[in-house]
Amino acid sequence: PPEHLILALESSCDETAAAVLLEGRRLLASVVASQVEVHRPYGGIVPELASRRHLEALVPVVSETLRGAGVDIGDITGLAVTQGPGLIGSLVVTLSFAKALARARRLPLVGVNHVQGHLAAVHLGDPRPGWPHVGLVVSGGHTSLYLVRGPASAELLGHTRDDAAGEAFDKVAKLLGLGYPGGPEIAKRAEGGDPAAFDFPRARLPESPFDFSFSGLKTAVRTRVEGLRDRAAAVADVCASFQEAVVDVLVEKTLAAARRHGVKNLVVCGGVAANRRLRAAFRERAAPEGFTVFFPPEALCTDNAAMIAMAGYHRFREGPAPEADIDAFSRLPR
Ligand code: KG4
Ligand code: ZN
Repeated sequence: PPEHLILALESSCDETAAAVLLEGRRLLASVVASQVEVHRPYGGIVPELASRRHLEALVPVVSETLRGAGVDIGDITGLAVTQGPGLIGSLVVTLSFAKALARARRLPLVGVNHVQGHLAAVHLGDPRPGWPHVGLVVSGGHTSLYLVRGPASAELLGHTRDDAAGEAFDKVAKLLGLGYPGGPEIAKRAEGGDPAAFDFPRARLPESPFDFSFSGLKTAVRTRVEGLRDRAAAVADVCASFQEAVVDVLVEKTLAAARRHGVKNLVVCGGVAANRRLRAAFRERAAPEGFTVFFPPEALCTDNAAMIAMAGYHRFREGPAPEADIDAFSRLPR
């Protein structure tokens, strides 16, 4: 029988996800049920609707995952569930489900920090980085830099003071009248645009070089767009220039953190790490200095449960013993 056959559940935002991971190596199944259609008419996530939809989707998603993995719930050796940060109502639905399942099946349960999950996604790819590495978590909810010393130890070096990078993509897409979520929409339009057409600001924050700020950029884009006579004609250039400004800052600060801490390996994860231009810019600028950049597989950059399973696996192997009772948290504990 397997030593570690982990069933993981994730529902911190607008995806209901489950995955089964064997011995921290073989991903047997990963199912993500997106709610994007539920929230699209609102141009953003409606928390009440998200919790309700998770409740409906959970049992079908878990059944499909077990079936897809070809395993029975009786074969599972441990459960991992996202504990936070995220939408509290969404977290509580799945955490309650996981606790009930753990008790009914007498399974150990570990709570996983969603951000640790994003960082762990890179270990589901090939090649995988060793430790230590500098990790940039860049998503709709987070833009943070970590010094990752081991599988269960990430030291926060800096984070965004206002919007997350993904949030900036979503907000700029909205003001340009593009679809939701905005990241992929902007990336698509940017392909046909000139990244140097508009000189948008880069917030360098010299007094805290590993912190980020994107609200000034968003405002600059709004001001420029409002001043344009023919907005439609400029969309591709605005998208390309905006994307370039975000990418510049993310690459620059991550490289600076790696230099400062004498670390050669970089990990870039979270939904925005699916961005092709970001990946290319990291590769171009890291190589000449001898840095190696690792990305999770593209499909595992946005929210999923495979990454929670991997973080849970590390936790089962190296972390503190599973606690009997865990609570959801909406914000990161400091
Ligand atoms: O990690 P994720 O699925 O959820 C959070 O934990 O936030 O990230 C979603 C975010 C959204 O803001 C979305 O617009 C952004 O990631 N995103 C992208 C791309 N794909 C997703 N941003 C830029 N380029 C992309 N290709
Ligand atoms: Zn996420």
